[in-house]
Amino acid sequence: MARPRTSIHGQWSSRWAFVLAAAGSAVGLGNIWKFPYITGQNGGGAFVLVYLACIAVIGIPIMMAEVMIGRRGRQSPINTMINLSEEAGRSRYWSLLGWSGVIAGFLILSYYSVIAGWGLAYVFRTAIGMFHGADADKVGAIFKDFLASPERLLAWHTIFMVMTMVVVARGVRSGLEQAVRFLMPALFVLLIVMVGYAMHIAAFAKGVEFLFSPDFSKLSRDSVLIAMGHAFFTLSLGMGAIMIYGSYMPERVSIAKTTFLIVGADTLVALMAGLAIFPIVFDNGLEPSAGPGLIFVTLPLAFGQMPGGALFGTLFFVLVVFAAWTSSISLIEPAVTWLVENHGMCRLTACMWAGIVTWLMGVGTVFSFNLWSEDKLFGKTFFDLLDYLTANIMLPLGGLFIAIFAAWVMREADVREELAMVNKFGFRLWRFLVRYVTPVGVVIVFLNAIGVIK
Ligand code: PFF
Repeated sequence: MARPRTSIHGQWSSRWAFVLAAAGSAVGLGNIWKFPYITGQNGGGAFVLVYLACIAVIGIPIMMAEVMIGRRGRQSPINTMINLSEEAGRSRYWSLLGWSGVIAGFLILSYYSVIAGWGLAYVFRTAIGMFHGADADKVGAIFKDFLASPERLLAWHTIFMVMTMVVVARGVRSGLEQAVRFLMPALFVLLIVMVGYAMHIAAFAKGVEFLFSPDFSKLSRDSVLIAMGHAFFTLSLGMGAIMIYGSYMPERVSIAKTTFLIVGADTLVALMAGLAIFPIVFDNGLEPSAGPGLIFVTLPLAFGQMPGGALFGTLFFVLVVFAAWTSSISLIEPAVTWLVENHGMCRLTACMWAGIVTWLMGVGTVFSFNLWSEDKLFGKTFFDLLDYLTANIMLPLGGLFIAIFAAWVMREADVREELAMVNKFGFRLWRFLVRYVTPVGVVIVFLNAIGVIK
């Protein structure tokens, strides 16, 4: 198969369009919903530190590798892997890496959409003033009630899936690019407002301390794996989302510079979300370890008490939905491009198929919060299992093989040509990291998690 110079699916109109799209993919529920609740469950500061270290040492080099592979391959992750392994004269089995990405994307979107559906529901709930003057018990009861209804969760999950597929069906420029161009800046401004509010709360200092003063005795083996898994999840790495976005990247744009911008924006948003949420948690005597419902039981409380809360609250949940939307489109894009390339489908038909299968799988997540909430495997519900399997195992494994492919399988000259780094030292540092540090780091965290090393 000859390596195409441009993608048949289109191209971003500029470097900024790529940065916005990739940042749109990275910034999502992972930053606003997941980062605060797993930080709360894993004891705060020390967990944040391990997470930041993983972003720097593992996340940045792998993101560069994934974008580079995508831009060189210019096809769906599966076909890109076939092309590039042929270019390097290696086995076509590397396409399995593309496959695992497509499958991980499906699995993640199936539950991601359910949680985004919660966000959608909360847009309307805050707008009608449901939380006005409510105390912690009432807000908690409202959330519990909501989760207990499979019909409601299903309805919102369905609406969110339709929203996602509509954008994806419109394609690269008029769908994906237009969506992120407007959504990303809005999100940023609203987060600043939220942090501004939190700064005026008495417990702000306590929130800052929880996030930034590390106590390593609170870290378990699993915490380190969760921190690393989250570094992959939050940066959308290890499953081909960033690869496919890289395949739409114009020829001469710098991969290193854009990567720094994307990672910087993603990390900033996560920390800001933490700064907005934990002061409210402590101010109201709530448990930081409340789990996946954390932002749905803390923030409505604040909105119910602050002046103009209904307006801010509505805007905030709109923002959560926006962030989730620009991420969900990237979760399904690898599968859609593969269906178009290999099955001759038009984009619309491909979207319908991908959407239906994902929606069906989402039903399992919906039930895991009510009908199946007592059905557990390894002590985990269906949703917990999916989340653990994808974020903590599939994405880091995908990332590990992406690093190995970029550093050990592709020819150095090809990699050098594609990355086109002017800074020679920068290139050598990157190569050293993906060749040794990143793979060894991922393997150590895995071995540590399964108890082989201490
Ligand atoms: N990065 C997204 C978030 O933080 O919400 C989630 C995600 C999107 C993960 C795309 C993986 C992916 F490929």
